[in-house]
Amino acid sequence: MSASILIVGLPWSQDELTLAVEAVRALGGRPVVADTERALGAIRRPEGCTYLPVAELSVSAVLAACGDTRPDHVVSITELTTVLAARVREAFALPGTSAETEAAVTDKFRTRSLLRAAGLTAVDCRETSLRDLPAVLASVDLPVVVKPVAFTGSHGVRHIAVPSDADALRDFYDADAAAESGRDRLIVESVIPGDEISAEAVCVNGEVRILGLTDKFNTGVPHYYEVGHVMPSGHTARWLDPVRAYLQDVVSALKIRTSALHAELMLHDGRVELVELHTRFGGGSIVQLLAEAYGVRAYDVYFTALLRGELPDVPRATGTAGVAFFGGWAGAPFRWHSYDFPCADAVLALSLDARAQPKVRQHEGIRLGYWRTGRAVFRASGADGYARVAANVAFVRDQFQRLDPAARPQDRPSHHEGTHR
Ligand SMILES: Nc1ncnc2c1ncn2[C@@H]1O[C@H](COP(=O)(O)OP(=O)(O)OP(=O)(O)O)[C@@H](O)[C@H]1O
Ligand SMILES: [Mg+2]
Repeated sequence: MSASILIVGLPWSQDELTLAVEAVRALGGRPVVADTERALGAIRRPEGCTYLPVAELSVSAVLAACGDTRPDHVVSITELTTVLAARVREAFALPGTSAETEAAVTDKFRTRSLLRAAGLTAVDCRETSLRDLPAVLASVDLPVVVKPVAFTGSHGVRHIAVPSDADALRDFYDADAAAESGRDRLIVESVIPGDEISAEAVCVNGEVRILGLTDKFNTGVPHYYEVGHVMPSGHTARWLDPVRAYLQDVVSALKIRTSALHAELMLHDGRVELVELHTRFGGGSIVQLLAEAYGVRAYDVYFTALLRGELPDVPRATGTAGVAFFGGWAGAPFRWHSYDFPCADAVLALSLDARAQPKVRQHEGIRLGYWRTGRAVFRASGADGYARVAANVAFVRDQFQRLDPAARPQDRPSHHEGTHR
């Protein structure tokens, strides 16, 4: 009988679920997906997959739903359920990354502390709460970056140059709701200088293989909202080997065994420094970019690693791919100035619903400052491929930054430092 892969928890993106399910099937495996009845009822379910509706996302509920059938592998493809998937793995006595490690990876303070003990980060960091933040800010050298120990999308993240910037940060939190769900736990970090990239990789039995590096484009200080990325990174030739070596050290220090990896990194002065790490592939169309730029089907690679223990060959890029997100400040109507891309021939796909509304305005006490209404995917080849794709991404980023300042989230002027794009 073919091996089964139990995917615990639906990912944010329906497309990614489809890609993952198709990858398991293409490799001759049996895909099984577990999530709550409500979550499973809200999606278009890819065919050829067994669905296990559970009353709640807990180890006992998932085990009960499996009944007498023991899965061969248990994974999560979203950070929301990596710890749960690891606990289910442990309950079935299956090999893989431990729940303790997954819990450390989902907590930016614990990750940073483990890396510090292993000599793999030079970043100063403190853990605090929303309530105690002013006292901590009074005792550290500014500027710093303050962010939730666990969240995503740069929501609740802010560069703090002067103590009063903390007021602007607090506007992004509903203090009571955040405290109730533990989202008021914050990390205060020194500002990491450099150019930011991400690395997509797989790890098999503790050995890292990089699939691609990506240049990240964000709105810079103070909010760092991510507006697009370009793959392969323009830093690839110079930095691939140092990034691989650093990521291998990070994976070994954290005791990650077999998983997808998305590492956000700063490159500066000959050194690689971690911003954050996930044991799943990057969101924001990164999986699609791997296919467009490298011809890599990321989930095929990951599940081949799981099912056969094989590491992929390092791919060579066949072109440059990029994505940029249309969006706006939360609460303001969507207004976009121009779709007249500087390199229109590099536009591969556009999707946009100008009338869409954000589904939520806050999550567990963190107010969302911006939202995405659509995206543009780019591809170009040839010697100037990178420049053309990057020009289109920068075009979207620059418009994002010029969106009506009156509608912008609390953004009190202060002296900004740093070298971020
Ligand atoms: N210590 C730091 N120094 C400099 N910039 C930072 C620092 N921490 C975070 N940033 C910037 O803020 C961005 C968001 O931070 P981070 O990636 O930790 O949060 P996130 O909300 O988890 O984002 P994601 O959606 O990528 O998961 C980073 O990509 C980086 O540009
Ligand atoms: Mg991040």
